[in-house]
Amino acid sequence: MINRPDQFCMLALAVGTALARDQTRELGVGLITSGSRFVWVVKNNIVDKEDGQELEEVIGHELMERVKEKGLIVKSWVQQEDILSHPAVGGFLSHCGWNSVMEAAWNGVRILAWPQNGDQKVNADVVERIGLGTWVRSWGWSGEKLVGGAEIAERIRECMGNESLRIQAMGIKEDARKAVGFGGSSDKGLTELISMWNQF
Ligand SMILES: *[C@@H]1O[C@H](CO)[C@@H](O)[C@H](O)[C@H]1NC(C)=O
Repeated sequence: MINRPDQFCMLALAVGTALARDQTRELGVGLITSGSRFVWVVKNNIVDKEDGQELEEVIGHELMERVKEKGLIVKSWVQQEDILSHPAVGGFLSHCGWNSVMEAAWNGVRILAWPQNGDQKVNADVVERIGLGTWVRSWGWSGEKLVGGAEIAERIRECMGNESLRIQAMGIKEDARKAVGFGGSSDKGLTELISMWNQF
């Protein structure tokens, strides 16, 4: 499983702030039904909580158990770039902060964009234009409407299964490395991450 490249989708979303609770639950349902393995990086400011505890508080115990069957829940101490640079990770559901877009481009990871503010919308537009990913404009802003789990699952499937998108993203990676030169990426936290992958 782990050695087959390109089948994980990563998302790094703040729990309880950027997305409302009911939207976070739909996201959980969408991930489970997408058929994709995933890594959910839970960002928060509360350092003393156990892994996934705050997520469970939002989506409930039952859904959390199902999420954990298909995915890895990791705390934000895991550097996002360490996950994006792993060969098993092919997709990134992202709000499209600039650093996230840069890291995805550097690692050839295609983006399913879900911007939540003006700057992120500008970045999502760039992502689409350069062929790094897709942006479902009808999902709107956070809180504007509730995007259902089935719709999220469908879009994740499309993004993960889109061969031309995969090839374009890999091309962007090659271009980026040609421009900047190989190496340079930090491997901080990677050892811990690899041990987590190996539990699958
Ligand atoms: C794949 O993604 C591209 C955008 O890069 C899009 O134009 C195309 O319709 C997608 N193909 C499928 C089968 O979804």
